[in-house]
This record gives sequence, structure tokens and C-alpha cells, in this order.
Amino acid sequence: MNKKIQSTIHQLLKPCADIERQLIAAHSQLIKYAQDLNILHKSEKESTQKLEAAHWQLQAYAKDLKFALTASKQKAGQLEKAYCDMIFRLGLASKYKDEETGNHIQRLSHYSQLMAINLGWKKTDAEMLAQASTMHDIGKIGIPDAILLKPAPLNHQEREIMMLHPKIGASLLEGSDSPLLRMGKDIALNHHEKWDGTGYPQGLKAEEIPLSGRIVMVADVYDALRSKRPYKPAFAHEKTLTIMIEGDGRTKPEHFDPQLLELFGDLHQEFAAICDRFTDE
Ligand SMILES: [Fe+2]
Ligand SMILES: [Fe+2]
Repeated sequence: MNKKIQSTIHQLLKPCADIERQLIAAHSQLIKYAQDLNILHKSEKESTQKLEAAHWQLQAYAKDLKFALTASKQKAGQLEKAYCDMIFRLGLASKYKDEETGNHIQRLSHYSQLMAINLGWKKTDAEMLAQASTMHDIGKIGIPDAILLKPAPLNHQEREIMMLHPKIGASLLEGSDSPLLRMGKDIALNHHEKWDGTGYPQGLKAEEIPLSGRIVMVADVYDALRSKRPYKPAFAHEKTLTIMIEGDGRTKPEHFDPQLLELFGDLHQEFAAICDRFTDE
């Protein structure tokens, strides 16, 4: 081959060599990309595994938390039940020192719950009021038997001592975190307060008196009028209704929260039914 042909072939082959070099470079670049991708994929896989592990861990925590929450709810429920039981027993203890009966406590809690429900209270709050109302006279534990059980009207000094029972009751129940005991304290302290400010122990007026105390006061007066006392017979329902709505000199309509007195007027037959259901006879 002469030189000219050789040079021509060389000229023709030169681009091919360039393309081959470019192909080799592209190939090694691709291998590098593949390696990078592999590394990326590997680290992504690790991240996914880590995320999955974290997910399971979180699920386990959630399960533990749910378990702990259920257990603490159960404990709170048991505690509240224990409170209710203790309160009922305290109510029974005060009953032993009083002319009032266990049936009085039952009736009072039913009248109070009935009014609360008709005032639109939540069922659980109305039930709490029913429980808390049983503590209204708990302070009578601190009143001497000679006064508490005297089969005759009390003299001035004796009445003064008797009128200490709301404060004694409140001091027995105060300082607790339990909503039930806090409501019990409000009722014990305020169930002898009157809407017109003539009640005791603080002479509170109208809405200064907690609503729970105002409700229990209506229920307590109704039941006292329906019950036999050393100084009075048990009055019939109709007579009691008239006394509460119109007054008899001793009991006056202005003693009661007007809204509650109206509600009592609407519900009076249900009051009578409760009274008959838990009769003392
Ligand atoms: Fe009382
Ligand atoms: Fe009472």
C-alpha cells in the first residue's frame, strides 16, 4: 500500500477511534452512575428499614399508652366509686345521730336528680348531684345528741348550735380534688341558705348561693314538710305543695330560687311519686 492510500485509511479511521474513545468514556460514566444508583438505593433501603422499625416502635408505644390509660381510667373509676361508697356510709353515720332516715337521703337524691335533669344538666352531672346531696347533713355528726334528738322545739341557744352543722359539714368535706366531694361541700355549706338572704350560715342571696345548694334546699324543704317531726305531723302532698307555692308564715315562696320553685310546680307529681316510693312507713 502506498503512502497515500495509508494516509487516506488513517484519515477515515480517525473518527471511528474518536467514537470508540467517547463510547469507552460513556461506558465508564454509566458504570459510575450505576454504582452511585446502587449506593443510593442501598441507603434508601436502609432508611425505609429504619422508618419501618420506628413505625413498629411507635405502634408498640401507642399500645402501651392505651393500656396505661385504660388502667388509670379504671383506677379513677374505682377511686370515684370508693368516694361514693364512703359518702353513702358517712350519710348513714350521720343518720344514726339524727331523726332523719335513710329513706330521706334516698328521696332527697332522687328529687335533686329529677330537678337537675329537667334543668338540662348532663346525665353524669345530675348523677353526681344525686350522690353529693346525700352529704347535705353530714355536719350533724358534730352536733350533740341532746340537741339533735330533742323531742321538742329547740331554744335559742340550741338552735344556734344546730345552725353550725353546715359549716361543720363543709369543713369535713373541703380540700378534696374530687368533683363529687367539692359538690358535696357546696351542698353541705349552702342547703340552708335562702334566695331572699334570710338563710344561714352566711346569709347568701340569690345566685350567690351555688345552684347545687339551691336545688337541694328545695328538695330538703319538700321532704321535711312531708315527714313527721317531734313538733309536727307529716303533711300530705297537696298541703306541702300549697305551703311551698303560697307560704305558711314559716316557709315562704321567696325562700326559693323562683326558677326552681316554678320547676318544682311542674314536677310536683313526680316529687309525690318519689316520696311514696321511699316511704318511711
Ligand atoms: Fe341541714
Ligand atoms: Fe335533710
